Amino acid sequence: MTLFHLIAGWIGYLLICLLGLILIAFLCFCLYIKYIHLKYDHIPGPPRDSFIFGHSPTLLREMRNDRFVHDKFLEWFVECYTHIESGVGKYSVVLLLHRFFGNGLVTAQNHDEWYKQRRIMDPAFSSLYLRGQMGVFNERAEKLMDKLADMADTNTAANMHHLFNCVTLDVITKVAFGVELDLLNKSDSPFPNAIEMCLKGMVHYLRDFTFQLYPKNKKFINEVKKSCQLLRSTGRQWINERKMAVQNGEDVPKDILTQILKTADKANDDEELMLDNFVTFFIAGQETTANQIAFAVMELGRLPEILTKVKQEVDDVIGMKQEISFDDLGKMTYLSQVLKETLRLYPTAPGTSRFIPNDIVINGIPIPAGVSCVFSSYVCGRLDKFFEDPLKFDPERFHPDAAKPYYCYYPFALGPRSCLGQTFAQMEAKVVMAKLLQRFDFSLLPGQSFDVLDTGSLRPKSGVVCNIRHRGQTPAA
Ligand code: HEM
Repeated sequence: MTLFHLIAGWIGYLLICLLGLILIAFLCFCLYIKYIHLKYDHIPGPPRDSFIFGHSPTLLREMRNDRFVHDKFLEWFVECYTHIESGVGKYSVVLLLHRFFGNGLVTAQNHDEWYKQRRIMDPAFSSLYLRGQMGVFNERAEKLMDKLADMADTNTAANMHHLFNCVTLDVITKVAFGVELDLLNKSDSPFPNAIEMCLKGMVHYLRDFTFQLYPKNKKFINEVKKSCQLLRSTGRQWINERKMAVQNGEDVPKDILTQILKTADKANDDEELMLDNFVTFFIAGQETTANQIAFAVMELGRLPEILTKVKQEVDDVIGMKQEISFDDLGKMTYLSQVLKETLRLYPTAPGTSRFIPNDIVINGIPIPAGVSCVFSSYVCGRLDKFFEDPLKFDPERFHPDAAKPYYCYYPFALGPRSCLGQTFAQMEAKVVMAKLLQRFDFSLLPGQSFDVLDTGSLRPKSGVVCNIRHRGQTPAA
């Protein structure tokens, strides 16, 4: 009995000590949070939801309610916003415990490693090299036109977003890796779904890092992992095939894949880094452009005056010509304006972040070192401080004679880490749009193409669905 009392006493004592330790740890944590608040409280911003969780509850609520978080940022916009492009701190991306973008070009954190990769990749994005790719842009866009012609003939509604996704994926695999996928005619390809799953996984991971801990998400996570593995194993296969070709002295194109082989350190033949870059280009080079073209079609579909004007320009520049040249692209200035205005309202990479390595003062506000700043292209594009009547889709804002929107329009980011594929993307978007406008009339399917949100902005739904007609063809009853 005495022994029992002794053990019970010790257990009670240990429990009290444990509770005391937990309490001390919690108090230290609260002090740390208080210290962080004091460090950043001078930066204007919306009131916090909670002492510990800061603004996270509001952001999580917005995302769970399927609202766009950048709309909340827009609401929260603080008067002293300014743009900086400083440091090159980045996050390497691991997707739900599986290496995804890794240390590839978009996410490389170390400046020297990034710089080396960027210099190696530059030649595959030079104007001269891209000029030589006009044939591929034309040929792939032509396949889309064939598909649309079939749809017009059979009076089938076209899910434009899906079709643009197929064509941009076809273009990037051909231009970057020399591989023909022909997704417009092969509906059983696993790639579009794999990319969609990886992107969804990335969104979940960024929204809530505890996502992977809940058993109910296991099935989804496994699917994302499988998709990620598919992309990386495809990369491994294509890289090895190209390596063999190089070793056999074959004449290989100077494309992105050839440049990717050069990013690996010769001494240790870093295959993982090559795969990081493979996945980076596979994804960065496709989805953003497809979304941009779909958003442009959504706006043109509801704005007949702008549509007529851009069609007129396309007719004037390319007429009935099938092969669009690089010089033609330069002449379609109003189409460029339409595409730029599309990215102002719908930046398909809506924001970016930069790590601030040293103390810095922005608009008179001291920003302490060691933080990451988020720059929202979406917010800047929708502020009437920078763009009058911001929700109005007006390509005249980008007229060559209009004042340039310096530091408030950056859909491709600014500075050394800005988009390497900007010219590539805009050439591709222009070729697809020009051919579409040259050949077809389209109208948005009522109720299926976009929602008008309570913020007054538009959101595409069901993939921007259109009725397609050959130009001059009378609409079906
Ligand atoms: C409309 C289409 C596109 C948009 C809006 C877009 C946007 C962006 C943005 C905002 C960044 C900066 C990311 C950051 O700061 O974290 C970026 C980086 C990058 N983009 Fe794009 N992009 C597009 C198309 C493309 C295409 C077609 C390619 C390749 C073929 C590409 C390749 C890259 C690469 C490699 C980087 C990393 C650059 C570096 O850090 O050195 N992008 N893009």
